[in-house]
Amino acid sequence: MALLGVNIDHVATVRQARRTNEPDPVWAAALAELGGADGITLHLREDRRHIQDRDLRILRESVTVKLNLELAAAEDIVAIACEVHPDQATLVPERREEVTTEGGLDVVRHRAAVARAVDQLKAAGIGVSLFLDAEPRQIDLASKLGVEAVELHTGQYAGATPGPAQQAEFETLRKAGKQITDLGMTLHAGHGLTYRNVRPIAEIPHMHELNIGHSIVARAIMVGFERAVRDMRKLLEVGG
Ligand code: PXP
Repeated sequence: MALLGVNIDHVATVRQARRTNEPDPVWAAALAELGGADGITLHLREDRRHIQDRDLRILRESVTVKLNLELAAAEDIVAIACEVHPDQATLVPERREEVTTEGGLDVVRHRAAVARAVDQLKAAGIGVSLFLDAEPRQIDLASKLGVEAVELHTGQYAGATPGPAQQAEFETLRKAGKQITDLGMTLHAGHGLTYRNVRPIAEIPHMHELNIGHSIVARAIMVGFERAVRDMRKLLEVGG
């Protein structure tokens, strides 16, 4: 069964809408754990639009499951990661004007910066994952950089019209998943996954971890955080 990493960024988005102290992503992480989350994921963006440094530091103390920090390959953020020491660091691309992460990291183009970040994180004893599009060249290079895992970007699949278009995106992800595991890396996936579209992705052979945020937070507003996480986790139980 794929493990569920619950991304709590958008709990902080609601808080930052008023710049107060509620809702607290730290509370959400605790409820996610009660709901069966296997990991807590958060993205410390350079513009600090949702998660704040304080969140990361408290979560490092309070989270008892895997703590996965998403970050750009930028010197100041990598330094924070090395100091706070999450269990896993996932390198993602970042542009200030984007609404959310819009695509995988272009490791081919930014090889030097990514390699430097990977080396620093690994030297600090942090497991490194790269968030990539399902492109063979990118995946090959990830393997050469010596990372532990690749998180496949599922945004195109999630955004495709159900039917042949979505099936074609799924096939691309499935093949990329095989390439990743054949190269000895661990397979993760995420972005845009929902209660409706997650099952086929969870059933890709050797799928180890799914990172899901927006859809869970959206449901949590209606039914509560613990239940929203529990419902998603149930869907990941293949055959369940
Ligand atoms: N994985 C990565 C690398 C991401 O950047 C994000 C979005 O922050 C997610 C997963 C979760 O995406 P969503 O919020 O659409 O579930």
